[in-house]
Amino acid sequence: MALATRLENLGTETAFAVSLAAAEWAARGNRIFPFHLGDMNLPTPQNIVDAMNKAIVDGKTGYCPAAGIPALRAALADDIGGRRGMSLGPENIVVQPGGKPVITKFIQTLMNPGDGVLYPTPGYPIYESQVDYFGGRPLPYGYRETPTGFAIDLNQVRQLAESGARAIIYNDLQNPLGCESGRAEREAIADLAIEHDLWVLSDEAYFEMRYSGSSTSIASLPGMAERTVVLYTYSKKFAMTGWRLGCAAAPVAVAEMIAKLNTNNESCTTHFVQEAGVEALRDPSGAAPLLAELERRRDAAIDGIGGIPGMTCAKPDATFYLFPNVTEAMAMTGHTDVGDFATAALHETGVSFCTRRHFGRPQEGETEQYIRFAYSGIDVDDITEGLDQLATWIGAR
Ligand SMILES: Cc1ncc(COP(=O)(O)O)c(C=O)c1O
Repeated sequence: MALATRLENLGTETAFAVSLAAAEWAARGNRIFPFHLGDMNLPTPQNIVDAMNKAIVDGKTGYCPAAGIPALRAALADDIGGRRGMSLGPENIVVQPGGKPVITKFIQTLMNPGDGVLYPTPGYPIYESQVDYFGGRPLPYGYRETPTGFAIDLNQVRQLAESGARAIIYNDLQNPLGCESGRAEREAIADLAIEHDLWVLSDEAYFEMRYSGSSTSIASLPGMAERTVVLYTYSKKFAMTGWRLGCAAAPVAVAEMIAKLNTNNESCTTHFVQEAGVEALRDPSGAAPLLAELERRRDAAIDGIGGIPGMTCAKPDATFYLFPNVTEAMAMTGHTDVGDFATAALHETGVSFCTRRHFGRPQEGETEQYIRFAYSGIDVDDITEGLDQLATWIGAR
């Protein structure tokens, strides 16, 4: 029996294959240093756990409104709007089981088959998967490496926008690059969106995952609120990846359609999880120690990479990802294929990581080689030891 043909266009997070390879290597009795996980090995703050337990005891276990419970929609409107200097009401908020569903619902709501959608690559791979799956015209845009990180190739974005695009996906505080837009870059993207009348998905999964400075949402720039859907998630800020709680903050007409998709898909986000979400915003103090721990890890990882021959990486202020250039390290270890380099590193040192390949189609003319270290699922001591092992392996070749 054949499966539906449209599934041929459905992508996935190929990074899960890296988890599998690491698990298999561990099962053979080897020690693993897990830099591949975008997941977190940190506990959800206790007040949030307690609120969820109480909500279950209180019987908040049934269906609830598709767009989210009123208390959570109101709290999210205040929190998301307040932190971005935007005026949002509960009618702009549609609660979701995580941040990820906002991607597919943005595309289903605003993209017709054949419409061009710009998205970043390297970038979160689900953008490309969903554009392909729903029959869009993929318009991937790239980045160039700078002394302080990565910058969007604005000329390419301009050219692609002129080719008749309908929407752009923009991930400021970026996975996997760890980079963020400066003011000029953000404003240039906003100007292009307005000039070409594009819908914008602003993926702000890491908006508050920063160690210094402050974040600005593209949605808060003039002329942007009416064309922008913000992806918000509890996953990272409150170490709640498995709880599945997030929302779309969108213009009312878009929010209403996304709520209709909710009704057709999951009916509603788990009621007692939403109650816990209200508590998280009422008392968010548990997020600060999580961020402090991630900052210690960032510093340990940057120190460790500094000691690895042939590997270079800027120090990002945000996210929990590093995207080192490994072109020279690969040459030193005799590798021309970044996948082979990753496998060799796993087998020789136990250090497990994703590569550029896991983050969307390569851009034409990409010559440099990159890997991604996530430090959200690995403790400081293991970061230091793992990167020492990598330095020793590469240095000895
Ligand atoms: C850029 C980006 N967007 C969205 C998501 C999805 O977040 P969630 O786990 O809340 O669905 C992630 C998760 O890693 C991400 O990195």
